[in-house]
Amino acid sequence: WKYMTVANLANAMGKSVDHVFEVMMYVDNTVDYDKSTSVIDSLQVIQEIVKKSGMRARTVSPPDLSDPERINKDATKWPPPDPSVLVKRPPVVTVMGHVDHGKTTLLDSLRNTSVVKSEFGGITQHIGAFSVKLQSGETVTFLDTPGHAAFTAMRARGAKVTDLVVLVVAADDGVMEQTVESIRMAKAEAVPIIIAINKIDKQEADIEHTKDMLLPHGIQVEDRGGDVQAIPISALNGTNLDTLTEAIVLQAELMNLKGDPRGRVEGVVVESRTDLHRGKLSTAIVQRGMLQKGTVLVAGLAWAKVRAMFNDRGQPIQQAPPSTPVEVLGWRELPSAGDEIIEVESEKRAHEVMKWRQSVKLTEKQEAEREAVECKIEEHL
Ligand code: GTP
Ligand code: MG
Repeated sequence: WKYMTVANLANAMGKSVDHVFEVMMYVDNTVDYDKSTSVIDSLQVIQEIVKKSGMRARTVSPPDLSDPERINKDATKWPPPDPSVLVKRPPVVTVMGHVDHGKTTLLDSLRNTSVVKSEFGGITQHIGAFSVKLQSGETVTFLDTPGHAAFTAMRARGAKVTDLVVLVVAADDGVMEQTVESIRMAKAEAVPIIIAINKIDKQEADIEHTKDMLLPHGIQVEDRGGDVQAIPISALNGTNLDTLTEAIVLQAELMNLKGDPRGRVEGVVVESRTDLHRGKLSTAIVQRGMLQKGTVLVAGLAWAKVRAMFNDRGQPIQQAPPSTPVEVLGWRELPSAGDEIIEVESEKRAHEVMKWRQSVKLTEKQEAEREAVECKIEEHL
């Protein structure tokens, strides 16, 4: 390691000096390097600049676009997590399973029961996430999207939103292709699984055989010597749904789920759509902080200044704490399912982040160039 000037670095990266200076905006401790001949005397700074360019020096991990500390330059503004302020939060449950095994029917039954019991009454429009308040007083948040799509998208973007998977397996059909796929996905994410053996009202239902069919896929239910809970239900008739929700609550208790209602808001987009009357809307799950009107958010290549928020019954709300499903109004573009949502301190910052993210959306060609640049930097070091 000898030395490298700003110009050397720009050259090695195949970028202009201006580009390097622009990137430096995002890197601390680069104020001294104000000329192209300035010597960058810290390897760490060089690596930071390379990393923030969307490139990767070998010793540096790939850029993490969702790193909140990075897009919130003024990180000190946000309080660090303090265990004493953490509050219990509802579990976020994704219902998965093979086609036609009864996922939607189950969610509808759970929701209708709770809607009927609630003071508001009536059934409202479908949104991708909703909360069910159980008789025991506990709340459970369900993700009601085509389970796979949302889960896959979130997984691809590294967003951990699901605490629990309810795997619906129809007792007349048994374990099928997507059942296996769902098991694989839940296991890959280390998310606990609860089995709902559905359609037990049907003549052909074979609960015991269904349990056996799960064994080769690493799901050992309780009466097969394992610790996975399996609840026989009829989503259609509402049989045993209270046992299922009890199992969910029990599992959630064991996980001791906590959320931090303070500080920078973090969340995940569940789905997005354009409403004829209300404009660009996204359904989101808040994971940290307290979302409220006026908050500036970035998600993927979209940003919003929250204009209004609605709960899963379409009613306006003022605040959304962790694990709350919420419809957010105020997006300039539509974010995608699975995009991580992060609060930034101002609209100006949101613009910077957008510009930044667009610039690092690398094409395949740039991807190849990147490899070459890595080698050059390696040589220089
Ligand atoms: P996809 O979204 O297409 O993957 O299907 P799904 O898993 O959401 O299944 P859905 O809830 O749409 O149910 C499929 C069919 O099974 C419907 O005709 C339901 O009425 C029926 N069904 C669901 N649950 C039960 C049940 O407990 N008993 C019986 N008999 N039929 C059920
Ligand atoms: Mg469905």
